[in-house]
Amino acid sequence: MTFAAKITGTGSAFPPHRVTNADLSRELARLGVETNDRWIRERTGIRERRYADLTKEQRPNAALAADAAIKALEMAGRSAQDIDQIIIATCTPDALISSAACWVQHKIGATRAWAMDINAACSGFVYGLVTATQFIASGQSRTILVVGSEVIHPYLDWEDRGSCILFGDGAGAAVVEQVPADSEHRILSWHLSSDGKYWDLLYVPPFHQGKLDFLNHTSCQDSKMIMNGREIFKVAVRTLTDFALLALDSQSLTVEDVDWFVPHQANKRILEAVAQRLGFPSDRVLINVDRYGNTSAATIPTVLDEAVREGRIQKGQLLLLDAFGAGFTYGAMLIRW
Ligand code: ACO
Repeated sequence: MTFAAKITGTGSAFPPHRVTNADLSRELARLGVETNDRWIRERTGIRERRYADLTKEQRPNAALAADAAIKALEMAGRSAQDIDQIIIATCTPDALISSAACWVQHKIGATRAWAMDINAACSGFVYGLVTATQFIASGQSRTILVVGSEVIHPYLDWEDRGSCILFGDGAGAAVVEQVPADSEHRILSWHLSSDGKYWDLLYVPPFHQGKLDFLNHTSCQDSKMIMNGREIFKVAVRTLTDFALLALDSQSLTVEDVDWFVPHQANKRILEAVAQRLGFPSDRVLINVDRYGNTSAATIPTVLDEAVREGRIQKGQLLLLDAFGAGFTYGAMLIRW
């Protein structure tokens, strides 16, 4: 490889509307669904999440993505005109046509860029970073904007108290730039994998399900998320642990070498179980699930951005990103910051 990729800027955006566990419990009670702050905090570590106002923006998901992108560009000291390529990872696009990436391109004025969406659910941002790294390594692109963005709350089944309490809306972005292959500060390695046999642990039913007659093509079905939380918990703990070890072994590194463990923020108990298995002390694990819930593809870039802006992540430190998502999809990445 002639070139390597480096993250030069990060940004995030959340809707202003905060929904605490107490707020959510009150609303769910109106539907006859019982939950409470204590159960949610003890089982998930989540205290509150954000929900986008669907009436305010024409494209609420892409609007969050654009906000996060602008902040990442500012940090990188780049303008929209510098961007060669835009990758938006989302499993909850505002529309199937046109892509969120094209909408963001237009909104931020990145007229030179080509743009596409990818869907790897909660692993989407890592999949996006790996894709960006390939285009940069091949010399095709020099500056790529990668965003993980979700407005997931409209897909929640409010009568399923095991799943509807978990998720929130948000977006996180990174500017990825070309550096020499032997640069010290770069994305060092990555591992991606998928296992479709677990498709039914978390899915939204197909839009066209039960609609066989094309003359009767009224509209898309009102699709809600279906989740098997207990099974996901087990698969998630096992695979996050395995992928972290795979990433470290590939570079002959150990947990002691890693400054920050940056896992997908699905549930605090999952993160604690994985950190414990790997031997990471809690003060080296980045966490924001308590304040934003599971924002799917946005969890890793937003928690990263928070730590960068707070000065916790310092130049030269080693980061281990570790994701799993519906599909199932998995991805781990080592970055020398
Ligand atoms: N409030 C109160 N009680 C509840 C709630 C709630 N919100 N949800 C479930 N319960 C009840 C159940 O009905 C059950 O009651 P019962 O014993 O009378 O039957 C009891 O609590 C225990 O239920 P469990 O499902 O065993 O609870 P668990 O400790 O497994 O926690 C949870 C459930 C939070 C869903 C957990 O399994 C989990 O987090 N799993 C992973 C889910 C996840 O991360 N999904 C997204 C990941 S995919 C991705 O990010 C791509």
